[in-house]
Amino acid sequence: MRILVMGCGYVGLVTGAVFSDMGNEVTCADVDKNRVASLNKKIMPIYEPGLEEMVRRNMEEGRLSFVLDAGPHVEWAEIIFICVGTPPKDDGETDLSQVEGAARLIGERLTGYKIVVNKSTVPVGTGDFVRRVINETKTTGADFDVVSNPEFLREGSAIADALNPERVVIGASSKHVAMKLLEMYYTLGAPVIITDVASAELIKYASNAFLAMKISFINEIADICEKSGANVADVARGVGVDRRIGREFLNAGLGFGGSCFPKDVVSLLHTSNGLGVEFDMLKATLAVNGGRAAHFVTRITNRFPDMAGKTFGVLGLAFKPDTDDMREAKSVEIIKLLDEKGAKVKAYDPVAMANAKKILPGVAMCDNAYEAAKGADGLLIVTEWREFRQLNMERIKSLLKTPVIFDGRNIYDPDRIRAIGFEYYCVGKA
Ligand code: UGA
Repeated sequence: MRILVMGCGYVGLVTGAVFSDMGNEVTCADVDKNRVASLNKKIMPIYEPGLEEMVRRNMEEGRLSFVLDAGPHVEWAEIIFICVGTPPKDDGETDLSQVEGAARLIGERLTGYKIVVNKSTVPVGTGDFVRRVINETKTTGADFDVVSNPEFLREGSAIADALNPERVVIGASSKHVAMKLLEMYYTLGAPVIITDVASAELIKYASNAFLAMKISFINEIADICEKSGANVADVARGVGVDRRIGREFLNAGLGFGGSCFPKDVVSLLHTSNGLGVEFDMLKATLAVNGGRAAHFVTRITNRFPDMAGKTFGVLGLAFKPDTDDMREAKSVEIIKLLDEKGAKVKAYDPVAMANAKKILPGVAMCDNAYEAAKGADGLLIVTEWREFRQLNMERIKSLLKTPVIFDGRNIYDPDRIRAIGFEYYCVGKA
């Protein structure tokens, strides 16, 4: 299959790499000159385990290429995936200008039948919008179909998720069109849901919003645990064994960040309000999430009432492990609150420090976790990178000015850590 992928962000790049690895001929286009130039030098714009090897291999074997101008490739491609950015506007509405730009380009260059697939996360109704834009711009009688095929991959495990999806959702106007797209996914052996375009678009938002809601729910249960003597880890385990609920996404912590959940919940709320549906649960999900960083910092100020002049070591800056993505990272909120109270921060993150430096100029970046702990009044766990679980905690204790840990991700066994001599505060346990 000849595939054009428009947009080389997270979704586009991973989609292009995986489809080429499955034997398709793939051209990925992006309007960002620097991005395309570095991709052509096999330098990845993002950190994602396994991505570079896959891109390199498929470029070398001639199945994957990167171009600046998608135009000439519209005619060549059989299927076109729109994977451009869909950032939020100030009022929460999704900005579809990049989607519109891609649709215009397709329309202008349409000379024969194409399947145009929306893979970007887009509000319900966008499929119709893309169809309208292509119809308005096309200059030939060529036909096309617009399909919704949302992506469910997670940053940090994007390649594995794309190769082993839990489901493939295809929203199309007819079974015949859906089957054409299904041919591409067939080898993955994943459950397939074929539906109409609007339902497919909504499946993506409903999934992300539900997961976000689960996280806010367990974080409020954690608040009850902190006040009642219960332990949120055990509560989540006990609740999660019920298959109707499930254990995943019940990790209490600092709340959700990243480029998806915060913006997608706001976008779904915007859509629902526009349709006259209040969706109070989404409002509560956002409100709870918005308060997590402050709740965490309150626990620190309860222990250190005078924060001025104190220094804290922060382990983890990325919004989650295995990524260098700092978008909506809880570290930023926490460090800002500490700064307002006059405290200083030394931080370490295995891969996100280069990105973090740009948005956290006042933070001293350290070469490793031990350096971040050295001389600090307390240690904060903000992102649960695996390597933080394996630290020599005796050494950490000897380096800290005060052996106190505030663990925002519950990565340590409280009994073991206290036995070493730490004062240990975690989430959802008194
Ligand atoms: C999320 C979804 O999980 C993907 O299925 C979806 O494709 C993607 O958004 C998207 O829309 O593109 P992602 O944002 O990469 O993926 O990361 P997640 O692993 O879902 O984590 C999101 C946030 O929730 C992180 O800040 C994480 O720390 C937090 N989280 C997650 C918790 O606080 N508790 C949990 O139990 C799980």
